[in-house]
Amino acid sequence: MSAVDPSGVVAIVPAAGSGLRLGAGVPKAFVELGGVPMVVRTVDGLLESGVVGRVVVVVPVSEVTAAASLFPGRPVTVVPGGADRTASVAAGLRAVTSDVDVVLVHDAARPLTPPDVVRRVVAAVRSGLPAVIPVLPVTDTVKQVDADGVVTATVDRSALRAVQTPQGFRRSDLVRAYAGVSGALTDDAGLVEALGDSVHTVAGDPVAFKVTTAWDLRIAELILAGASVPEHPPISAEER
Ligand code: C5P
Repeated sequence: MSAVDPSGVVAIVPAAGSGLRLGAGVPKAFVELGGVPMVVRTVDGLLESGVVGRVVVVVPVSEVTAAASLFPGRPVTVVPGGADRTASVAAGLRAVTSDVDVVLVHDAARPLTPPDVVRRVVAAVRSGLPAVIPVLPVTDTVKQVDADGVVTATVDRSALRAVQTPQGFRRSDLVRAYAGVSGALTDDAGLVEALGDSVHTVAGDPVAFKVTTAWDLRIAELILAGASVPEHPPISAEER
């Protein structure tokens, strides 16, 4: 049992894409990982953290009934999504009641996200920050290229971070950000940045990686099967 009261925290999981890139013939969120749909593992990871009271899962309109049966006994609400990710998160946000203080938005495709990452994000928002994202340092050198693939600049990687989810927000700020949104976005924190609010970072975790390709899915299977993964070295304050 967690010492933190989870009742004021709701997580939205947008899973309404039809993305069939993993080639399994079903939307990515419903592809099975070790016999369990990815979205179910993702939702269970959020609830295991002990700091999330309810999860709103946003699915294609055709999948609402089937998806609802995937979460027996869990505090999960399934709602139909929209035409793009932004519309789907907005639909999820409409299902969040106004007594909720903290809203997380979490990719369905990060099924192995350690509960500690969820706890860090929620604790930081609860400490009074309007928006919080988990990040990792960028270890590869990053180049900017033109349309022909010719390098035009080398970016200072020490100032770059790779962004994971869950991204956490004060509910009122996320509602305000979504009220003015137009066009499809991949990053909710970017909306809050556009409002002029500061977005803070906490340490992410390599195991929270996004499953996008068949290669990622295989790696996730190996980790689940107990392949030994060395503990990631702590991420220093300078790297956040
Ligand atoms: O297609 P893409 O990888 O950009 O989708 C990112 C996330 O947004 C996925 O979890 C997908 O299920 C979700 N999505 C959604 N509603 C849409 C399109 C995408 O919830 N209409």
